[in-house]
Amino acid sequence: MKHLSIAATAAILAQNVAGQAMLRFACSQLVVDRVDPIVNPGMLYTPIFTRLWSTCTSCSFVEDLSNYWTAVMFFKNKEGQYQRVPQVGNGGPQGKLINNGGLDVYYIPSGKTTAFAKGFRMIAGDAGNTQDSAVDKSNICHRCWTSTNEDQFIGGAPCSGSDTVAIPKSPTCKMIRQTIIFPACWDGKNLDSVDHKTHVAYGTGGFGGASGGGNCPTSHPVKLPQVMFELMWNVTEFSDQGLWPSDGSDPFIYSMDLGGSAAHGDYVFGWKDDTLQRAMDQGCNLNHDCAGAGLHYQAPELYNACTIPQQAPEEVDGWLQGLPMGGSIVKV
Ligand SMILES: *[C@@H]1O[C@H](CO)[C@@H](O)[C@H](O)[C@H]1NC(C)=O
Repeated sequence: MKHLSIAATAAILAQNVAGQAMLRFACSQLVVDRVDPIVNPGMLYTPIFTRLWSTCTSCSFVEDLSNYWTAVMFFKNKEGQYQRVPQVGNGGPQGKLINNGGLDVYYIPSGKTTAFAKGFRMIAGDAGNTQDSAVDKSNICHRCWTSTNEDQFIGGAPCSGSDTVAIPKSPTCKMIRQTIIFPACWDGKNLDSVDHKTHVAYGTGGFGGASGGGNCPTSHPVKLPQVMFELMWNVTEFSDQGLWPSDGSDPFIYSMDLGGSAAHGDYVFGWKDDTLQRAMDQGCNLNHDCAGAGLHYQAPELYNACTIPQQAPEEVDGWLQGLPMGGSIVKV
């Protein structure tokens, strides 16, 4: 399946790992394109990796040339037309992150962690899943953000409380916060696996959510930094129920034409040299310069300027007569 994803090279909110240093930074949108490079490497369009490995980074750390992808959210109106849901940056008690689209990335250490090896990649979630019950909501979830301001924090720790696997469907939600938490335990051998998942595992011992990943099982004994994506979808302009499909179908869906059960993220490690390992070891925090690990923060004007052209040129904005699924979707 190929669908629109956001690519970015390159919340835990204070209350869940109080006092815990972690990286938390913005990665703006590099491109919105019909690719999902780990799930469908190289499909139809020429080599995705070489094209996506831009020489700049759209993230606020200069040293982060990792690739991050996730699906794009669309609103569907009662006429069956679609519009891509705008994204906003992220606020909250840990400070405001400025994004041009894209996502916020966290690397959360818990105890001694081993940074990813060169060539490492993995997927969290399943782009084809239609069963909410098949998803552990402490890892992949959505939050109904009743405030129109992302700075006004809503709820508790990521993927806790009333967060849901499904994309919330209520006119009270002015934004929808999406969280994708990756497995933090590695088999210590394989940089990838056939399903892009079995070389990693979620921890055990009741440490769900953005806690750093819990205890690693003996099959996957190596503790990795816990990677988390956070996205703020601004649904304010679509929150009037009078605009929604009258047949009861979901007004908010991902670009695979599926709901929250199919939320997923792709990760390809790409930090320069051993900067991520040093950042974890030295307790580098949030999106600040961290001299001990050689991390340099760059301003939004710089990382927002890093974009690449679509490989599959097509309309992705404004009202569309269908999802950009590879057909000839015309603008309304
Ligand atoms: C969210 O969308 C609404 C409606 O378009 C807009 O007024 C508001 O400024 C947006 N919020 C942010 C934080 O950009």
